[in-house]
Amino acid sequence: MTTETDQFLKSVDSSERGPRVTGVAISDEVMLETKDVNVYYGDHHALHDTSLAFHKDEITALIGPSGCGKSTFLRSLNLMNREIKGCRVTGEILYDGHNINTKTENLYELRKSIGMVFQQPNPFHKSIRENITFAPKRHGVRDKAVLDQMVEESLRGAALWDEVKDKLDKSAFALSGGQQQRLCIARTLAMKPDVILFDEPCSALDPISTLAIEDLMLSLAKDRAIIIVTHNMEQASRVSNRTAFFYMGDMVEYGETEQIFQRPKDKRLNDYLTGMFS
Ligand SMILES: Nc1ncnc2c1ncn2[C@@H]1O[C@H](COP(=O)(O)OP(=O)(O)OP(=O)(O)O)[C@@H](O)[C@H]1O
Ligand SMILES: [Mg+2]
Repeated sequence: MTTETDQFLKSVDSSERGPRVTGVAISDEVMLETKDVNVYYGDHHALHDTSLAFHKDEITALIGPSGCGKSTFLRSLNLMNREIKGCRVTGEILYDGHNINTKTENLYELRKSIGMVFQQPNPFHKSIRENITFAPKRHGVRDKAVLDQMVEESLRGAALWDEVKDKLDKSAFALSGGQQQRLCIARTLAMKPDVILFDEPCSALDPISTLAIEDLMLSLAKDRAIIIVTHNMEQASRVSNRTAFFYMGDMVEYGETEQIFQRPKDKRLNDYLTGMFS
């Protein structure tokens, strides 16, 4: 199996949304919440006591200098840090009314509900269609009409359908970088996630593709919670409702995006925004 397929299959394992563990909703609005999350890589304490709530219909941006723990925190939200040897996560991660940071959590089911899009577009070395149908087929979906519908819905959801509908059986690698990233988003959408995690999804893209992904994220936030790590401050202020600033493993300031950018309270955030460090 290629690295790309392996990486994707670790992040989600089927297209069919199985019966969800139902529980008491955390609240009317909060879809995902962390309480005192700490992350260790061996002895290195990379993230300290992070408590944050992510709301339905909203985009939350995670910002801060390189190495401050943004990706570490993001990966903890769908338990992707478990794929890293020596990494340990403590604290509670509340989703669908229960703490998912337990040994018994079904990772495959969870990662269908909390999908992830990576920094580099990572389509499979397969056709556009098969990029969407690969995981569902592997999990027994055989009906062509069902698969075709899944392909169209996911590609429409990722604003890619019109550009690729006549070449679904062409290689995904015949697409531009921006289109490849939208294909990866479509692949995630096929799982019908409640939450989508984006780790610097535009850093490999040109400005036009970047704006296309930003528009897409805004449309995806409907009925979902979107969380995006970005180094692009304009992007954070364009797309997000709320922003959390991380610094050296601490979540230092959190608030509505407008307040964070216009009226930062913490000196470190102010220094970051005024370019005193990057
Ligand atoms: N797989 C890993 N093994 C060991 N240490 C790691 C690993 N990943 C991250 N770290 C360490 O954890 C800390 C936080 O890293 P992380 O990648 O979360 O930062 P980041 O804020 O996402 O940075 P960037 O903006 O550069 O992506 C750093 O000190 C980093 O060296
Ligand atoms: Mg990172």
